[in-house]
Amino acid sequence: MSSPNTPQEEPFNESQPENEVNIVNIHASILREREEPRDGYEPIPLWLITVFFAVIFWAGIYLAYYSGGFSKEVYNPDLVSWQGGGSAVAAGPPDPKVIGKRLYTQNCLVCHQSSGQGVAGQFPTLVDSEWVVGGDWVGDNHLVKVLLHGLGGPIQVKGATYNNAMPPWSQLKDEQIAAILTYIRSEWGNNALPITPEYVKTIRDQSQDRSDPWTQKDLKAIPSETIPAGGAAPAPAETAPSAPAEQPAA
Ligand code: HEC
Repeated sequence: MSSPNTPQEEPFNESQPENEVNIVNIHASILREREEPRDGYEPIPLWLITVFFAVIFWAGIYLAYYSGGFSKEVYNPDLVSWQGGGSAVAAGPPDPKVIGKRLYTQNCLVCHQSSGQGVAGQFPTLVDSEWVVGGDWVGDNHLVKVLLHGLGGPIQVKGATYNNAMPPWSQLKDEQIAAILTYIRSEWGNNALPITPEYVKTIRDQSQDRSDPWTQKDLKAIPSETIPAGGAAPAPAETAPSAPAEQPAA
């Protein structure tokens, strides 16, 4: 009596009040049918469209954040400040402490650590070290010399003895050495005057003929010197490093 295709097979009968309902049912069941899938044609799934636009949206945000304003200045290693958003132009001379920190990270951190504390027994600390901020016999001239030519043999730092080798950094420019030293002299609670590029140049010129790393003994023979507050070149009182014969009272 009841066939599976009930709506279609039922004879159309106006007398039946459910006829209208049946027509709606018939249409509903037809509308429910999907088109036969054709070979080679697939609608793009909704999730793929969503992902596509989500990725484009993300890429736009990423570009806005990290494009560096599409400026060639992003490759300028000396640039310190980004003035006025997109136009990346350094205003005034770069801050030596910012440059110094960067150079310290590149050149010194591996041994002296980011804390400046070094490694006990191997790499001496720079924090409150007499070599960095000045001490009884150590002056600013000695510090610059250590950077320019390196240091080897037994040394005392804050009462502890080290006997290792520190490489020379003469390949760095005067401004770079000055920036590093200015940084380590004002970081980690250190508080000593900045070292100027002119002062580094003065010391470099003085010890041009030296090729070996310094030893504490050699350095002690050179009277200590403090960088003048104005950063001007110091008085030419220093003895030639290779011939520390005449020794004014330190
Ligand atoms: C390869 C490891 C190494 C690197 C890199 C290095 N140093 Fe040193 N540094 C040493 C060692 C070792 C000594 C002690 C040398 C000795 O025992 O005679 C020393 C000593 C010093 C001293 C004097 C002692 C003290 O602790 O105050 C200063 C200042 C210094 N280094 C600064 C620097 C700066 C600035 C840089 C980066 C430009 C740097 N060093 C990079 C290993 C290193």
